[in-house]
Amino acid sequence: MKEKLQKIREEAMRQISESKDLGRLNDVRVAILGKKGELTAVLKSMKDVSPEERPLVGQLVNETRESIERMLEETKAKLEAAELELKLKQEVIDVTLPAKKNNVGHRHPNTIALEEVERIFTGMGYEVVEGPEVEYDYYNFEALNIPANHPAKDEQDTFYINDKIVLRTQTSPVQVREMEKGKLPIRMIAPGRVFRSDEVDATHSPSFHQIEGLVIDRHITFADLKGTLAEFARELFGEDTKVKFRPHHFPFTEPSAEMDVTCFKCGGKGCRFCKGEGWIEILGCGMVHPRVLKMSGIDPEKYSGFAFGMGLERIALLKYEIDDMRLLYENDQRFLGQF
Ligand code: DAH
Repeated sequence: MKEKLQKIREEAMRQISESKDLGRLNDVRVAILGKKGELTAVLKSMKDVSPEERPLVGQLVNETRESIERMLEETKAKLEAAELELKLKQEVIDVTLPAKKNNVGHRHPNTIALEEVERIFTGMGYEVVEGPEVEYDYYNFEALNIPANHPAKDEQDTFYINDKIVLRTQTSPVQVREMEKGKLPIRMIAPGRVFRSDEVDATHSPSFHQIEGLVIDRHITFADLKGTLAEFARELFGEDTKVKFRPHHFPFTEPSAEMDVTCFKCGGKGCRFCKGEGWIEILGCGMVHPRVLKMSGIDPEKYSGFAFGMGLERIALLKYEIDDMRLLYENDQRFLGQF
């Protein structure tokens, strides 16, 4: 019996020391100490040992078992450590590798320009409102004093949904919608998309954006218009910017004007940017026509107001010195990434 145990022990030690991984080690453990294991078999045969020899044999079996278990534990710990070390080596992070670029999106130049304009006007107490892009002919033309067959309609040819509904050619109809609400005074700007059946070129697009402005209150005069728009120009283009008003005609304002700003590149001397003029046209404006006020339910004897409208793309092109409007719509990352 003693010899048998000795043999089991030696064989176990050999097999354990030859185990190269945890799986194999477990197989060895099962083969010796498992239910059908060799040492377990010896334990089972203890009933055949004479009672006198039993304590001694029992002690021997226990010692064998303990030494095998100890060796199993030690080997297991060693194999686990080796496995962990290998894993750590394989998963090592090379901190010197260049990092992946994090491409954060950003705002379109149109949006940057719009937010700048909104910031300036909200700072002066204006509200930002919106109107529909698909608009009644009535709001887009008639209520703005552009009757059917008026030649001004030719300049703003658009896409007709039917006789009464068009894709708006200007943001001016939002003026009418605000006035019709009947809440006075009004101080609003209305940015939005407009449509015209224009051919695409460096300065035209069938779909572009405007920002409309409207102020209605008692005792509003042309001086208010001039002061407001001059201040706006200074905020947008810089402290030294001067403005000039040229008489013009719009059916919905009387008198009407176009506003030029001194070229912010040359300060008014004349350069390539302003085509030698020293001035750059940026918006149309005027005192709201009494007939327009009346059509929207406002008494022109009690109230007066001014309005203005500008092209958003034009502002963006000027401010960021972009020479072709089409670049704003092509969404080329190489272009957009510069702003
Ligand atoms: N709606 C005009 C256009 O598209 C621009 C404009 C001019 C708007 C004068 C106004 C204004 O509010 O007073 O050409």
